[in-house]
Amino acid sequence: MHQASELWFKALLHEFDGLVASFERNNAGESLWHLQRINSLMRIVSAQLSALETLPPQRFAKLRAFLGSSSGVQSEQFRAIENASPTFEELFLRMLETNGTKVEDLYLGPGPSTLFFVAEALLEYEQQFARWRFTHVQLVERVIGAGTRGTGGTSGSGYLMRTVDQRFFPKLWEARAHLQR
Ligand code: HEM
Repeated sequence: MHQASELWFKALLHEFDGLVASFERNNAGESLWHLQRINSLMRIVSAQLSALETLPPQRFAKLRAFLGSSSGVQSEQFRAIENASPTFEELFLRMLETNGTKVEDLYLGPGPSTLFFVAEALLEYEQQFARWRFTHVQLVERVIGAGTRGTGGTSGSGYLMRTVDQRFFPKLWEARAHLQR
């Protein structure tokens, strides 16, 4: 199951290249196009986890020893995805600057612009990612319990739960709070 997700991770990383290039070319329509594909890939990766939720814990306990110290925490592609993701906000802010606008302005204009939809698609991606993290931590608690250490050596669900609140795009989230002041 993890290997299947790795293939989708590869597809995500491929779309990331296109997204970065579109930001650098200042082509908002193309950015949107890549983000929509990225978001459908994220939905697939999350949905895949549900197939493991009904895995009987007693069956998993039997095969767990064969994993040795292998764990998802060693996934190089997952780290590459995480590392690339915080760079999108900076690239997007630079694109806004090129277009003579700021994040806050996107939410003030008379009507939504393409750049507004790019901002919203980035937030959608962030939500999808956090959902994957939460679905995964619940899966972990359901299969091996909350207090069990991971095969990769972390505290297990405690470690994973702390990652759920991580944000790639703090400025995009903050822009909402501005409007309420
Ligand atoms: C029964 C199924 C699963 C269990 C019990 C499980 C358990 C765990 C645990 C306990 C960790 C924490 C690291 C450690 O100490 O090992 C972890 C991390 C991770 N797992 Fe799973 N996992 C399962 C399925 C999956 C699947 C299908 C994927 C698919 C991609 C996946 C991807 C990851 C990733 C990427 C991490 C690192 C997360 C991070 O560092 O933020 N896991 N997993």
